[in-house]
Amino acid sequence: MFKFVTSNQHKFEEVSRLASSYGIDIEWVRMKYEEIQDESTERISYDSCKKLAGVVEAPYFVDDSGLFINALKGFPGPFSSYVSSTIGNEGLLKIMEGVEDRSAYFLTVVSLNEGHSIMQFTGKVMGRIATSIRGSNGFGYDPVFIPDGSNMTFAEMDLETKNAISHRSIAFRGLFEYIKMNHSVKK
Ligand code: IMP
Repeated sequence: MFKFVTSNQHKFEEVSRLASSYGIDIEWVRMKYEEIQDESTERISYDSCKKLAGVVEAPYFVDDSGLFINALKGFPGPFSSYVSSTIGNEGLLKIMEGVEDRSAYFLTVVSLNEGHSIMQFTGKVMGRIATSIRGSNGFGYDPVFIPDGSNMTFAEMDLETKNAISHRSIAFRGLFEYIKMNHSVKK
């Protein structure tokens, strides 16, 4: 069975729901791991995946994500986790006070280790930063991010609605389509 290594229950719930729509069962390896400091989400995701070899038995995958705000030249980007746990959404909205260009995007890079190689799948969703904290679903920056084509923040959507459009679901659709095409044993 494919394993998802993450300490984040919300990520696991989103991804396992999507996996079952592909008829794929995934196992949750609930584990925290150190991430390198780097400006590239791809490199952070790749490095995390690589260093779990020998700790977790392949096949397994990891998800590294971030929020990139254009007016802040991509900040918090690779510092998303740190910013979220320090100043949080309120602090972010303070920084964005009076800023006209509120465009931003979420990026997810999934890295899959099949034992012999590491493959990556990327998902990106464009949107904008809300002017207030809205909604109670989801996690992290969900209450301040409004995806393009919607007036609701991710936190005002249920899991299915977020999964229909999110950065994470785009990246994981790529992974699950790859698994379906290349593995006859899916469970
Ligand atoms: P990481 O992928 O766990 O390193 O995530 C970096 C930061 O972005 C954390 O603070 C997460 O809470 C936040 N984050 C990651 N994915 C999402 C999402 O789908 N919605 C809202 N915040 C997210």
